[in-house]
Amino acid sequence: MQTIVLTGSTGGLGFALANQFVRKGIGNLICVYRDEMKFQKLFGHFGSNLYSYKTFMEDDYVPLGNTIEALPGDEIVLILNAFSIAPIKLAGEYSYQEIDGMTGGNIRQNVALINEAIRRCRCRSLKLRIINLDSGATDFPLSGWGNYCASKAYLNSFLSVVALENPDFKIVSFDPGVMDTDMQRQIRETDSRVFDRVETFISYKESGRLIDPSAVAEQLIERYVSHWTATGIREKYKL
Ligand SMILES: NC(=O)c1ccc[n+]([C@@H]2O[C@H](COP(=O)([O-])OP(=O)(O)OC[C@H]3O[C@@H](n4cnc5c(N)ncnc54)[C@H](OP(=O)(O)O)[C@@H]3O)[C@@H](O)[C@H]2O)c1
Repeated sequence: MQTIVLTGSTGGLGFALANQFVRKGIGNLICVYRDEMKFQKLFGHFGSNLYSYKTFMEDDYVPLGNTIEALPGDEIVLILNAFSIAPIKLAGEYSYQEIDGMTGGNIRQNVALINEAIRRCRCRSLKLRIINLDSGATDFPLSGWGNYCASKAYLNSFLSVVALENPDFKIVSFDPGVMDTDMQRQIRETDSRVFDRVETFISYKESGRLIDPSAVAEQLIERYVSHWTATGIREKYKL
């Protein structure tokens, strides 16, 4: 039995994943979220076979670890989906509060969660899969995206080390392609002074090139949750 820990469950891909886990009856699902009202609105009607965990910026995830240990099962599946592209700004224009928020959310929270999951797996002899949501922006600098590009690269590099230290864990960073979610809406609303390729991203939406997050969710579950087909540490959505 798998215990699936899914971050960013109130977002585009996260919500699509949660829906499919519940509908298909896969594992015990723990939805991690930060916005109570959003969570209740989206998940209020879901049945009882779903666990939830409200996170916050300085979270050490120990209470989440306790919940995991209380559930039956021999494998943790950690899906690192929560990620923020905000603030889309040029370096030199961030406030100190924004700097704390972007490193705290995209880096510190993910590292704290990975750390806690590994600790629990080691204590209880549980198996662990980590599925990190990768992006083309890891290798491709885009103006205004300093926070996003750098934190994606950080997570990939960190997980390469975790994989080296733990050859028994299954770890993959999966690039879902350009999806029709709130993140893309935020990108389209950016000033071209900050993000010079904004028109290209507007055209992706207008020409119907954005991928439906439900299709990505289905493929991610098939490739990395129901089975394990990864042959490398970084893989991409297959059209
Ligand atoms: N959309 C794309 O085209 C695209 C392309 C490549 C990679 N990706 C990656 O795919 C994943 C899902 O993207 P998406 O488009 O579904 O994103 P999204 O629509 O922006 O949703 C992101 C989710 O993460 C949550 N989140 C962000 N920062 C958080 C924090 N510090 N603490 C807790 N929750 C936090 C958000 O919470 P709230 O609901 O409270 O805002 C939201 O539920 C991300 O890792 C993204 O980088 C997306």
